[in-house]
Amino acid sequence: MAPVPHRGVVAVTGAAGFLGGWVVRLLLDKGYRVRACVRNVDDAARVDFLKAMPGHASGRLTLHAADLDREGCFDEIFAGCHGVCHVAHISDYNDQAYVKRTCDHIVASVNASRSVTRVIVTSSVAAVISEMDLQEVVRRPVFYEDRYPDEMNPKRTPERGQGYSMGKLIAERAFAEAAEISGFWDAITCCPGDNVGPIQSAHQKNMGPWQHHIEGMLVGRYDQNGVYRPWMTVDVRDDAACHVGLLESLAVKNGERYIAWSTDARRVEDICADIGRLLPELNHAYTAPVDAFPDRIKAREAEFRAIWSLCDLKNERIRAATGVIFRPLDESIRDCVESLIAVARVQAKTP
Ligand SMILES: NC(=O)c1ccc[n+]([C@@H]2O[C@H](COP(=O)([O-])OP(=O)(O)OC[C@H]3O[C@@H](n4cnc5c(N)ncnc54)[C@H](OP(=O)(O)O)[C@@H]3O)[C@@H](O)[C@H]2O)c1
Repeated sequence: MAPVPHRGVVAVTGAAGFLGGWVVRLLLDKGYRVRACVRNVDDAARVDFLKAMPGHASGRLTLHAADLDREGCFDEIFAGCHGVCHVAHISDYNDQAYVKRTCDHIVASVNASRSVTRVIVTSSVAAVISEMDLQEVVRRPVFYEDRYPDEMNPKRTPERGQGYSMGKLIAERAFAEAAEISGFWDAITCCPGDNVGPIQSAHQKNMGPWQHHIEGMLVGRYDQNGVYRPWMTVDVRDDAACHVGLLESLAVKNGERYIAWSTDARRVEDICADIGRLLPELNHAYTAPVDAFPDRIKAREAEFRAIWSLCDLKNERIRAATGVIFRPLDESIRDCVESLIAVARVQAKTP
């Protein structure tokens, strides 16, 4: 199906979020008309940064109230759009019927528009790598688009923490199937890694979770994460560039998925140490992570770290489809820290 035309109209769900806000900004920078979908257009703390964008003053950026939980509320917004970036989170990934319903709401509005030709569905690397059993990572350590978590593992349930990964896969498939049936539009999935980079609005410091972890490092309390999984990162601005690149790409087809990450991987405690290395002016006091894992997990720390260190992260496909060049993680950490201080007034802890 057709990519979005130069200077076309694109709707962005989750526009007040960390990633959505950068997708909006980049689309405006590239000349598009943008319909930013937020739940409450009057929530100044969440949307004033969008209203401050120059495109809003001219009318090229408009804000629209829409809640994924409400059927039909995207009908008017999508009418006349060429593309949709469906970036928003949903309220509950553990309720699979609800997950499917939110997809149906977006799909129905896309179908009703008769103008949208491409939808970018924001999934996650959780839909690529989130395993109940880390031996599955040992068996299949290459992380690329055709890799899926072991969906046959009987322990893979929302109750055991797999709701997010499962919900993202439900959405990926729901959109691809609906697009296939429609014959008018295609659905391309973007699976971002761990987003690091600058926030644009103070409320975004509490989201993420990666920028929130960095806020914790700055103030002196943060947690060990994901059974000693290293951060596998993408700069939030590069992630936005991947979304826009997929909207524009001539090389993509309905149902394809693209992983957006730089292939950098770093341990959480090293990221905390990086703050002082990258910004010595801060005189930041390094703090070790709080390790809240139960003792039986802690006893296997070396084993888990060894498993993750053997993983091979790939990003050839998204680079080929979009031409995006990924920033080094150092730049993302530096800009994240500076934005937390400048935008959200976070006070760095000193010795
Ligand atoms: N951050 C990461 O590292 C990461 C990694 C992989 C994948 N992702 C995916 O990227 C997307 C964006 O993540 P993010 O970090 O930017 O999240 P975020 O900052 O928490 O923003 C998510 C946005 O989703 C919106 N939202 C939540 N429930 C909604 C609903 N029922 N209806 C309409 N909007 C709703 C919120 O809108 P309002 O502000 O208007 O309430 C919020 O601004 C998500 O799909 C996430 O799964 C993120």
